[in-house]
Formats: sequence, structure tokens, C-alpha cells
Amino acid sequence: MTAPDESWLKKRGIVIRANAEDLAAAGADMFCQTARQSVERRGFFAVAVSGGTTPRRMHRLLSRNPRLSEIPWRCTHLFWVDERMLPPDQPGSNFGAARRDFLDRVPIPPGQVHPIPVTEDPEEAAARYEEDLKNVFHRTKEGFPEFDLIFLGVGKDGHTASLFPGRPGMEETGRWVTPVKGGDPEVNRVTMTYPVLNRARQVVFLISGKEKAGIVKTLFQTKEARLPARRIRPLNGKPIWLMDREAASQLTGAVAGRVLGN
Ligand code: 6PG
Repeated sequence: MTAPDESWLKKRGIVIRANAEDLAAAGADMFCQTARQSVERRGFFAVAVSGGTTPRRMHRLLSRNPRLSEIPWRCTHLFWVDERMLPPDQPGSNFGAARRDFLDRVPIPPGQVHPIPVTEDPEEAAARYEEDLKNVFHRTKEGFPEFDLIFLGVGKDGHTASLFPGRPGMEETGRWVTPVKGGDPEVNRVTMTYPVLNRARQVVFLISGKEKAGIVKTLFQTKEARLPARRIRPLNGKPIWLMDREAASQLTGAVAGRVLGN
């Protein structure tokens, strides 16, 4: 495997920022720019966000100027990539975290915020969410919704969304969303499926922290093909892998070091 240099990083869509704060700012800028472009072109911005801890810093930036006033909230439809079947007031709820981090402070019309329903039966939640998506996405690409932007994270096991290694959700190719069980916490979840994730006009991974350095190296410098995050291959072009220095720190090679500023 050749040692990474600027062109190696660029070819793989890897964008490295100095620290978690700069990473969050870069992600928030992508949200803002993509929203403005999408609304200018189509009068509509459909975005899906992930849960977990990494996106939270970025989400908080969306509720502060300058981005707060630059984002066309009135034309924005916000969805979740996945959700744990936990009530919003419980730690672990992706919607609950987003509501606290930015939704309570931005002027997005309530009817354009689309949390995944939390129900006893995750099958019911998945069916209801797919219905909600179909009510918004009248036009689809080959039968699947085409988001303008989808933010994804990566777990230390290489999962993304709630698509976990070796779990059935990974093989789902017909449904837009599907119920799964897994993750930390190991609870019932609902997740978007690969056909939806891979039809986004732009996918951006947000990866932060030293504990992710190992999986980043595995994703980019081994031939391990079965990892869920590896199967994100958008039809419209490559994902952008936004990461901080710590997450990129095991990407070997002199330039990676220089780019990382070590
Ligand atoms: C979830 C997320 C999940 C997350 C990764 C990374 O609901 O758990 O959608 O896919 O993105 O687990 O999580 P951290 O950002 O907390 O490391």
C-alpha cells in the first residue's frame, strides 16, 4: 500500500482538520453551503443526520450565527439516518439530542422535522418512517429518495448508520428503512438502508478522536471489504471523509504526518 500523500488523501475524499472544533465547523459549513445550493437549484433541501456523539458539536454550530441566519430553514426537510427505539427525553435518543443541540433554536417549520417514530414494535416504526419519507419525496431515483446531503458516522467496528457488521440490515436492498437490533446501547433501532444512503447527492462522514484511528486505518489501508462503512459508495460520487488529526493519526506516511501537522 503506497504511503498517503496529498493526492492519496484527495483521491479518497479525505479532508483532515486540526481538531474536533475545526471538524465541526467544516461539517457545519458543508451543511450550510449544500442547503443554499440545493434551495437555489431546486427550492428544497433534504438532509439526513446521524446520531452518536460526533455530530453534536456540529449541530450546536447550526443554531448560532453566522450559519443560523444563512441556512434556508424554511425550505429544509430534516430526517434521521437512524434512531434507537428510546423516548426523546432518554439519553441515547438521536432526536432528543438534536432537539437539545439545535432544533429548539432554529426556525425550521415543525412539519419539516421528521424524527423516526419510536414504537414498541420497530417494524411499525420503520413502516411509518418509510411512509413519511414517501410523503416528502414524490420524485425518487430508481425508486429511492435522493437526499441532497447525508451525514454519517463510523463506529469502532466499522458500522455506519445502524448497519452493523454481519447483521441483516446490511443485506436489505428493497426497503428504504428497516428495523435492526444492535449497537451500543444494544437496543431496537430503525435505520436507513444502503439503497437510500447510496443515492444521496453527497455523503459526508464525520469522524473524530483517537479511538477511531484504528478503524480509519482499517477502512483505508487494508483490504477489509465487509465493513458496513466500506459499502457506502454513493452513485453520485465519492463520500467526503471529514476527520480530525486524531482520527487520521494512524494513516501512515510522511505526508499524512505533514498534513496532520505532527
Ligand atoms: C447511532 C449513529 C451511529 C454513529 C456511530 C458513531 O445512532 O449510533 O447513527 O451510526 O454515527 O456509532 O458514533 P459516535 O459519533 O458517537 O462515535
